[in-house]
Amino acid sequence: MVSTPRLPALVVVGFLGTLMLPGAALAQPRCAPSRPDMLGPMYEPNAPERARTGEGFTVAGAVRSAGSCAPIAGAKLEWWSVNVRGEYDTAHRATQTTGADGAFRYETDQPKPYFNRPAHVHVKISAPGHKPLITQIYPKPTDAQITTDFVLARD
Ligand SMILES: [Fe+2]
Repeated sequence: MVSTPRLPALVVVGFLGTLMLPGAALAQPRCAPSRPDMLGPMYEPNAPERARTGEGFTVAGAVRSAGSCAPIAGAKLEWWSVNVRGEYDTAHRATQTTGADGAFRYETDQPKPYFNRPAHVHVKISAPGHKPLITQIYPKPTDAQITTDFVLARD
C-alpha cells in the first residue's frame, strides 16, 4: 500500500518524466512544423515549372504556416527523384508555386530504391516569412498517392 506522504512525490516525478520525453503522451501542437530530412547530394536549383514528371505516384496537399495552419500562397516547391532506372535526371525535377489556397499536386514515376536507401522523393519548400523546409516522402511500392501537408516554421 502506498502511504499518503509519498503519493504527491510520485505524481510530480511522473509529470516531469512526461515533459522530458519529446512527444510522449503529449498531443502535438496544432500545425507543428514538418519533420526535415537530409538534402542529399542531388539537389539542383531552377528546375522547370511543372506539376508532372511521370506517372504512377502523386503527392498532394497544402503548404501551411506553423501555428496558425494558414495556407501559404506563393510557396515554392522543388521536387527531385530518380527515374525508373534508379538514376537522378533532369526529367524528374520540377518547381511548383502554390496559389491562394496553398495547395499543390505533383505527379511523378514511382520512385525506386537505390544505394541501399528506400524509395523516396525529395522536396524543398520555400516561402516568404518562413524557414525553408527540406524533407523526403517515402512511398511504399503500392502507394499511388500520398496526401500530406507541409508545415513551415516562421522566420
Ligand atoms: Fe535521394
